Amino acid sequence: VISNVNEACSAKFCHKTAIVIDALRATSTIATALAAGASSVKPVETVMEAREYYTEGDVLGGERFCRRITGFQLGNSPDEYVPQTVAGRRVILTTTNGTRAILKSLRAQEVIAAAFLNGGACAAYAARQRRDIVMICAGSHNEFAIEDGLCAGFLLHSLLEHCISDLKMDDFGAAMYSLYNDRKDAICSTLFDSTTGRRLLKLGQSQDIEACSRRNLYHNVPIWRSGQLIDIS
Ligand code: MLT
Repeated sequence: VISNVNEACSAKFCHKTAIVIDALRATSTIATALAAGASSVKPVETVMEAREYYTEGDVLGGERFCRRITGFQLGNSPDEYVPQTVAGRRVILTTTNGTRAILKSLRAQEVIAAAFLNGGACAAYAARQRRDIVMICAGSHNEFAIEDGLCAGFLLHSLLEHCISDLKMDDFGAAMYSLYNDRKDAICSTLFDSTTGRRLLKLGQSQDIEACSRRNLYHNVPIWRSGQLIDIS
């Protein structure tokens, strides 16, 4: 498990399965968009790129400073990604940390976007690949964010419980696994108390924190294929 996004582009991760986590909120939004029937989610780094990629029928989504970007149809609240807004459509998404972490991880053999919402399915898929796994905690501006570490712990828990019995973790992974064991009955309150959670709360987005704290609501596996994330579950 790593929390320094810049490390994700290291050559040592080329043969691994990368699981990128931005529980509040980008990877939760991606899981929700695909569950609502979006045909794909295309993460891009900048607002300008998002506008350049846009073609008729696409949906432009994302945030800067946790708010919807001017001229975009959707922000970064999972609740906005419902069948009425995204079914059958490609979502072009740009967020401050999450989409950047995905794009930084592309040297890995496979890249998956995971959150609490779809963690069980992502862990099961990654286990089936029989490759080493690296979990990338997107954090915030290269700083560790507890919600991502907690979600990494949840994924490790899912790998151990359902898939891989002889899992070997690095020390940071072991710490995140213990964190999850300690907080597994208080996911929502831990997210509310986190730095990102408090920021979202201030902006009146408490419903997003609740939405992002639900475990295994979806069974999709958003995986990188030809420049975008699609559900291969
Ligand atoms: C991000 O990708 O930076 C986050 O998802 C920010 C947010 O919560 O909107």
